[in-house]
Parts: sequence; structure tokens; C-alpha cells
Amino acid sequence: MQIYESYCRGYQAVFRVATKFLDWSEPILLKGAGSVKQLAETVKKNGHDSVLVVTDKGLMGLHLLDGLFAELEKCGIRYTVYDGVQPNPTIPNIEEAKTMYEKNGCKAVIAFGGGSPMDCAKVAAARVRCPNKPVRKMRGTFKIIKKLPTLYAVPTTAGTGSETTITAIVSDPETHEKYGVHDPVLRPAYAVLDAELTVGLPPHITATTGLDALTHAVEAYIGQSNTKRTAAEARKATRMIFDNLETAYRDGQNIRARENMLEASYHAGIAFRQAYVGYIHAIAHNVGGMYGTPHGLANAIIMPYVLDWYGESAHKRLAELADVAGIVTTETTDAQKAQLLISRIRGFNRDMNIPEHIDAIREQDVETIAARALFEGNPLYPVPKIMNKAQCVALIRKIGGLDG
Ligand SMILES: NC(=O)c1ccc[n+]([C@@H]2O[C@H](COP(=O)([O-])OP(=O)(O)OC[C@H]3O[C@@H](n4cnc5c(N)ncnc54)[C@H](O)[C@@H]3O)[C@@H](O)[C@H]2O)c1
Ligand SMILES: [Fe+2]
Repeated sequence: MQIYESYCRGYQAVFRVATKFLDWSEPILLKGAGSVKQLAETVKKNGHDSVLVVTDKGLMGLHLLDGLFAELEKCGIRYTVYDGVQPNPTIPNIEEAKTMYEKNGCKAVIAFGGGSPMDCAKVAAARVRCPNKPVRKMRGTFKIIKKLPTLYAVPTTAGTGSETTITAIVSDPETHEKYGVHDPVLRPAYAVLDAELTVGLPPHITATTGLDALTHAVEAYIGQSNTKRTAAEARKATRMIFDNLETAYRDGQNIRARENMLEASYHAGIAFRQAYVGYIHAIAHNVGGMYGTPHGLANAIIMPYVLDWYGESAHKRLAELADVAGIVTTETTDAQKAQLLISRIRGFNRDMNIPEHIDAIREQDVETIAARALFEGNPLYPVPKIMNKAQCVALIRKIGGLDG
């Protein structure tokens, strides 16, 4: 284990230095209630007279895109809609979107929705530029490199932060794997942060997507690859989520809480795109790949288990976040503060009707999920403590409630 740990830490150190030289600039932001209306003008100014809009059927059914379509028409922009994206977008979704882009002579992509449409749009744009590289060959880091068609991202959950990350998460229905494609070219050129689009988000999705954003902030912050900037962004996101998530959950129409959640999700995105995530995500992705468990829900359930498992290695950083979140009472030691933070996260789950276990996990899949989670997490994620296979198996059994 000692040698393996040194190998992981060495690998992470190399990445930490190498990624310092990447372009970590942010997308151009259109911000504020109603800002989606300005998007068509921007698209027109950029000379994109034909665009592919990538979204899902739920959002089409809610008529959430009607305002955007009206503005595109006003500006004389031809648009083609691909609304077949499934939660946890699949390789066939990406291929369908790519085909529509090509058939309709599109020049740019508008990703409209939660992380699923945004990620589908990102990889579809990559496939347009790399027609000879199948999605499976894009798995991992720096596999695309070519400049993509302009991506305009409009998040409607708060959320994944995908509007600012260099990542897209893809599900492979043939192998039941779910994995990341990471490349700076996947960072959208524009992001629209319009909270009005999120007021209709049902409470359960508000809770789970909000806890996904919290997981991004926490995993980035306790990891070992922070910069001053990512740490500050993670702290800011944490504070905003603790201050606003429950209000957004109980009073969806509260535009201030919605705005703050959207902003928090964006800041968490800035934090984790450079400082990475950790084993919460590694396990969540692979449970999601196996059973289709929604990403935010998986993270919300898994988070307290993994944070407990990190034990002392994460106490100092979790204690700092407990201070930031304003939940520290008379407790003084780092261990006590960390425990308070973890309890508060369990409290979020209880109060927002999120179960304690992922019931879908089956005994016969545990080994596979553990192997895949560690394949994702090691050696890349700069986690506070390196996990081995036996530890991961034990944790997944707990998360699945398989210990009786
Ligand atoms: N690229 C990244 O950096 C990144 C980060 C985290 C997660 N992800 C990925 O993003 C995906 C999950 O995205 P998500 O959690 O945003 O969910 P999602 O995009 O899958 O959407 C979930 C559901 O919410 C509905 N919905 C979305 N916005 C709505 C609104 N405003 N009103 C009503 N309903 C709405 C959708 O129609 C859908 O049914 C996963 O595949 C996950 O792995 C990507
Ligand atoms: Fe996530």
C-alpha cells in the first residue's frame, strides 16, 4: 500500500504542476433573471446563423425553451432541436445530436438543461470535430485537443457546474460504465446564469442537484490540488449552499435563493474543474453507470459515508468548511467541527427526503463497482486518503445497506 500510495501522490503532483499551465479562464457570462433573452443577440453577433439546441423532453414539455426559440426566430437564426437526451447521457444520445448537427448545417451548439444536456452537447461538439474518434476513445484527459464549435451553455439545474467545467460525463449502455471526458476545449465559451429558468425545478431535484454542487465544493476543498483560487471558490460555494439550499427546496419561487444556488453551483464548478473531485464522485459515477441512479442523488447519499471514512485526514479542511458554513457551535477541535459538518449534511438528507442507502446496489455488483470506482479515482484524484479495494468494497456495502 505504501508504494502504491507514493505512486498515486507522485502522479497527482505531476498533474498539479502540468495543469497550472492550462487555460483556466471562465466562459463569458450572461447573468441575471431573464438573461436567456440576450442569448440570441449574442449568437447573432457571433455570426452563427444556424444552431443545434441540445435539451431533453422534460424541458420541452415544460415549454422552458419557448422564450429562447422566440428570440432566435426574431434574430433570424435557424435552429434544430435535439431533445432526446436522457438523464446520465449516453453514447447513442451523443451520436444522434452529432448527426443532427451535421445534417442541418449547424455552426454552433446551445446546450440547454441540466448536466445531462450540457454534457451531451459538449461531446457531440467534440465528435463533430473528431469524426474518426469514437466517444470511447475520448475517455480520460486531453483526448480531443481540437477547437470545438462554439458552445453556449444554459444550465437549468444548480447543479453540475458543467457550464464552466472542462468535463463531460458519459454513460455507455453496452458496458454499464459511466466515465469522464476531460479536455479544456470542452469548457463552454458562453454561460447563461438565468435563475428564472430554475424556479420550476421540483423540490427533490432541487435538493439532489444542490447537494451535487456541495459535493463539488467539498471534494475540491479537501483534496490536495487546491490553488488559492479554487479554495476560495469552494468556500464561497459552500457558504452559499448552506445559506440557500433549504430555502430553494421549500420555496422554489424564491428567486434570490435560486440565483444564489445557480451562482454557488458555478463557483463550485470553478473549484472542482481544477482541484478535482474524490471518491464520492468516483463511487457515484459507477453506481450511476450500473443502475442509472441520478447523479446528485447518488452523491447526496454517498457523501457522509466517504467523509466519515476519510477520518482524521480530512478533519482540518472539513473543520474549515464548518466554520465557513457557519454551523460551528461551542465545539472546538477540528475533529468535532468536521463531525458537525458531516452531521449537518446527514441532516440535509433527512430534511429533504433523501434516503440513507442506495437500495439498487446488489451484492453481486459490489466488486465491479469498487474496481471501477478505484480505476476512476486512483491515481488521479488528489483525495485526503488513498482507498484500497477491500476498503471500497466495505464502503459500497454500507452505502447499499447490505450489512444488515
Ligand atoms: N460536466 C460536469 O462537469 C458534470 C459535473 C457533475 C455532474 N455531471 C453530470 O450531469 C448529469 C446530471 O445533471 P443534472 O443533475 O443537472 O440533471 P439532469 O440534467 O439529468 O436533469 C434531471 C431532470 O431534471 C429535469 N430538469 C432540469 N432542469 C429543470 C427545470 N428547470 N425545471 C424542471 N425540471 C428540470 C430534467 O428534465 C431531468 O428530468 C449526470 O450525468 C452527471 O454525471 C457533469
Ligand atoms: Fe457532480
